[in-house]
Amino acid sequence: MKGISTLSYLVIEASDLPAWQAFAERLGFQVIQTSSAELQLRMDDQSYRMIISQGALDDLKTIGWAFPNTDALAAYVTELAHKGIMAIKASAELKEQRQVDELYTVNDLNGIQHEFVAGVKKCNDTFSSTQLQSEFLTDEGLGHVLISTQDKDASVDFYQRLGLSITDTIAEEIAPGIVIDATFMHVNERHHSFAFAPMPPEAKRLHHLMIEVASIDDVGLAFDRCTSAQDPIVMSLGKHPNDEMFSFYVQSPSGLAVEVGYGGKLIDYKNWQTESFSKLSSWGHKQHRA
Ligand SMILES: [Fe+2]
Repeated sequence: MKGISTLSYLVIEASDLPAWQAFAERLGFQVIQTSSAELQLRMDDQSYRMIISQGALDDLKTIGWAFPNTDALAAYVTELAHKGIMAIKASAELKEQRQVDELYTVNDLNGIQHEFVAGVKKCNDTFSSTQLQSEFLTDEGLGHVLISTQDKDASVDFYQRLGLSITDTIAEEIAPGIVIDATFMHVNERHHSFAFAPMPPEAKRLHHLMIEVASIDDVGLAFDRCTSAQDPIVMSLGKHPNDEMFSFYVQSPSGLAVEVGYGGKLIDYKNWQTESFSKLSSWGHKQHRA
């Protein structure tokens, strides 16, 4: 079905906004404090790519998916209803908050609110980072997220009905009897914008989000800034076999990981054959434990 064009934004509820501000700046975001209870993080000319709102959850609340225009969004919502998913038209207040022309919401089985939007506001002023030498790669969206689920089969069914397509899967036994079984899904040329894996019930909804930079040096420089600031490194520098991303994972002040990557694969998504892999990383990505 003709549908989602990109992963547009994320909303995270966080208990420590000052710590998030400093952390986000180290990663290269432009941080705008819109109130004492909210930060907006820019990565490009879109007015925000992440909203960090004050609260006790310290987890992902919302994933925003962009459509090319309001007609495409309306057709999508009608088609979703035919597939048994009833999207709810958002209030004028929420549309105003998100700075979009149109917005529908759907709650998924993993505790996340999906927002389907058209007409996301752009900024008049140019994006500027105090840290990046290059830029964030956002033509195919913000990046990607990997969320936790309890029910893989139900998740595959639900997200396919939302219009996401499976790129590939990775199942690796990381310790005797412990298998990570991840499913990666795309909406455009980015190898995956969304992924999920069964995790223990106490796991946070969001395992990690990924942001991609246009130069390998910006990955190394971000790694240096994070280690200097003593941010916990969740996984060292390494490379994934499926999206070929060179990256490291750092822990945010909410305990969620952020993957900073370079060189992610673009796919011919209209003629894609699903694959499966048996290793999460080709090399590196060693887990650090405190
Ligand atoms: Fe990732």
